[in-house]
Amino acid sequence: MARLCFLSWVFFVGFLGSISVEGLGVNWGTLATHLLPPKIVVQMLKDNGIQKVKLFDADQSTMDALAGSGIEVMVAIPNDQLAVMNDYDRAKKWVKRNVTRYSFNGGVNIKYVAVGNEPFLSAYNNSFLNITFPALENIQNALNEAGFRDTIKATVPLNADVYFSPDDNPVPSAGNFRPDISGPMADIVQFLDKNNAPFTVNIYPYLSLYGNDDFPLDYAFFDGVSDPIDDKGVSYTNVFDANFDTLVWALKGVGFGDLPIMVGEVGWPTDGDKNANVNYALRFYNGLFTRLAANKGTPMRPGYIEVYLFGLVDEDAKSVAPGNFERHWGIFRYDGQPKYSMDLSGQGQDKLLVAAKNVEYQSQRWCVFNPNAKDMSKLVDNINFACSFADCTTLGYGSSCNSLDAQGNASYAFNMYFQVQNQQDQSCNFEGLAMAMTQNASQGACNFIIQIVSSSSSFLGPSLVMLVSVAVLITFFLA
Ligand SMILES: *[C@@H]1O[C@H](CO)[C@@H](O)[C@H](O)[C@H]1NC(C)=O
Ligand SMILES: *[C@@H]1O[C@H](CO)[C@@H](O)[C@H](O)[C@H]1NC(C)=O
Ligand SMILES: *[C@@H]1O[C@H](CO)[C@@H](O)[C@H](O)[C@H]1NC(C)=O
Ligand SMILES: *[C@@H]1O[C@H](CO)[C@@H](O)[C@H](O)[C@H]1NC(C)=O
Ligand SMILES: *[C@@H]1O[C@H](CO)[C@@H](O)[C@H](O)[C@H]1NC(C)=O
Repeated sequence: MARLCFLSWVFFVGFLGSISVEGLGVNWGTLATHLLPPKIVVQMLKDNGIQKVKLFDADQSTMDALAGSGIEVMVAIPNDQLAVMNDYDRAKKWVKRNVTRYSFNGGVNIKYVAVGNEPFLSAYNNSFLNITFPALENIQNALNEAGFRDTIKATVPLNADVYFSPDDNPVPSAGNFRPDISGPMADIVQFLDKNNAPFTVNIYPYLSLYGNDDFPLDYAFFDGVSDPIDDKGVSYTNVFDANFDTLVWALKGVGFGDLPIMVGEVGWPTDGDKNANVNYALRFYNGLFTRLAANKGTPMRPGYIEVYLFGLVDEDAKSVAPGNFERHWGIFRYDGQPKYSMDLSGQGQDKLLVAAKNVEYQSQRWCVFNPNAKDMSKLVDNINFACSFADCTTLGYGSSCNSLDAQGNASYAFNMYFQVQNQQDQSCNFEGLAMAMTQNASQGACNFIIQIVSSSSSFLGPSLVMLVSVAVLITFFLA
């Protein structure tokens, strides 16, 4: 009831004010070589009416920027800290340092603590299997003990691969948790229920499509399909609903069919793969926002769903193990510029998001292939070197820079490296193959970027010393 009142209050204020994005949150990831200053990001959230944010840690500068904003925050404990959170005293320290500390008038409006991030992904080989539940238990108990029992809930954002329907009966009502994790899942679900905490799941229709050419394209979106899936009379026209309801059935199977569910991540990337583009992203988000605005829910769970988009900005240092698209999930570019027109309120208006303000860029300088270069024998090695420390994912098949010629490829790679290295002169040499210039080197749809000025980049790549020695090494090998 309290929640209902709150929501209608938000909605009402939304009508009075300019924008209302009821319930819609975003994931604010920071795996980038150049981070926008947190204060600029928080202003951008406010300018766009975004009232909820999900973090992947509890970084102090981020938290300080969020203080006083009123924005609801999900802070997080990364997977590599789950083991230490198995110690209750450490969990209490974490809560004291990263929750209680911000709990004052004008502090941070923390609503959730995410314990781990997709810890049961099959790719992790059960590394976190036995330490996730004890960490969850300790964190919620520490929150309760610190007086946050009614206000802050611990949850575990899980990948949708924790549940499945069998191949011979691929309908939501056949949903179950993966047998190899059924023990921990039962513990987690029971504990969430006991603490009135939500189950958090990340659902990616894009990934259903990626790497599966037989997947019916329209089923990834929300505009309807000619041959819906029939599940005991319930008709499914999109994979989001089907996936969500598979979880509902899996929960029913373990006796907790009414456990609240929120979507920790959902989104569509815009580059790095043939299905990752602005048109599809727009189609996906327009469908999603319209449904969220109408509180449509799914066949098994009609009504309001709490949803966090993935993600806020592009992250050029994310692992590309899952695919090149990984660095292009942002609804904003790396520099806080909107990528497309998008109406978060679900009213279907053709309006742009509000760009980040007061963003500081580096000089208008690009690094490109030097057409007068004589010795081409080292070109490939130099491109590979550049791309191992900078983001070249837009060069691949189906991506925005895939139609460049060989020299264009070299220029693109050199420029990305030069920008990551904050345009240091030494970083635009590549054994005489490169030159810097002040003219925009972009080619057609392929944007040769200028990086932003960033004080805190943890992924700057090789130090200068290392750079020199790598260059010497390469020279040595090729000599
Ligand atoms: C608080 O969170 C930060 C950022 O995630 C982390 O580095 C730190 O270890 C946490 N503090 C404690 C006492 O656990
Ligand atoms: C998981 O196991 C596979 C195959 O045994 C291995 O290639 C991979 O590196 C492992 N991943 C992790 C995160 O341990
Ligand atoms: C987790 O615990 C179970 C039951 O105690 C044990 O069989 C399994 O080997 C453990 N798995 C890992 C990865 O530690
Ligand atoms: C440019 O690089 C991309 C990605 O490495 C590659 O697929 C493409 O074939 C290259 N183009 C030329 C003309 O070399
Ligand atoms: C360079 O040109 C491209 C394509 O015209 C444009 O989109 C981009 O904004 C320009 N970059 C800068 C830094 O002016």
